[in-house]
Amino acid sequence: MWHGVIHTEELATLNKLVALIDIDNETGEQTLKEFRDLFGGERVMFIKCDVTSETELTDAFERTKSVNNRLDLVVNNAGVTPSNPKVIDVNLTAVIKGSYLAKQFMSKENGGSGGVLINTASIAGLVPFVHPSYVASKYGVVGFSLALVETDPSFRADDIRVGIICPTFVDTPLLINVSDDSTIRKANKVPISQVVDAFLLVIEGDTKNGCCVRITSANGIDIHPLKSVDEYNKELQIFKI
Ligand SMILES: NC(=O)c1ccc[n+]([C@@H]2O[C@H](COP(=O)([O-])OP(=O)(O)OC[C@H]3O[C@@H](n4cnc5c(N)ncnc54)[C@H](O)[C@@H]3O)[C@@H](O)[C@H]2O)c1
Repeated sequence: MWHGVIHTEELATLNKLVALIDIDNETGEQTLKEFRDLFGGERVMFIKCDVTSETELTDAFERTKSVNNRLDLVVNNAGVTPSNPKVIDVNLTAVIKGSYLAKQFMSKENGGSGGVLINTASIAGLVPFVHPSYVASKYGVVGFSLALVETDPSFRADDIRVGIICPTFVDTPLLINVSDDSTIRKANKVPISQVVDAFLLVIEGDTKNGCCVRITSANGIDIHPLKSVDEYNKELQIFKI
């Protein structure tokens, strides 16, 4: 759930409104209550939303902006396991739609002043070691987000920075669905607190635009090495130089 990344005392210092957006009404309301107790009633809202519905997702952005008057950060974080037939719709298509909505609502043209867009991928978006359709969805998130930075100058023009989060296994409800999978049983897990730190690194601007931040038990938080499109082109001569 989106709250997983903001579930820390850092929220107390931000003095901003946080909208939790999720299809799971019960957990959403429960988290809302927990957050209101911790951070104050005016600082958190919950919107029940199926991110695969373009109408509901657009409405969630509109409601958030209408309450707060501005939008500074969007985290496309909803995800499901490959046993869910909507794995591509939730993990990839909704991230694409959410990214363009983030742009629309943070753009200067629409009264915004830029901000940060974070798309949650996975280490499975860099290494093809789990179920193919989950891997496809997460490689899609990495590729889409990198291509936004490389090929869509409007994000940069609007001062919207893009970050990609790639954790290895984390103990969350998501893993319960696949707990009998032998790959998961032998996996090294990383603590949620480390994933939170990776999000904060991107939010606070300590990473380059278009960075893939990995969280692994071997290296903790580090940046996935990537070649630029120019470097690839020199090597592969896709375009005339
Ligand atoms: N847990 C891991 O090991 C792990 C590792 C790498 C990446 N991730 C990614 O992290 C993200 C968060 O997952 P998590 O581990 O916190 O699991 P989680 O199950 O706690 O959170 C996923 C949330 O997405 C919500 N969701 C599912 N379908 C939705 C829909 N159609 N509309 C709106 N919300 C929907 C669920 O209700 C749930 O609250 C996911 O994108 C996941 O793929 C998780």
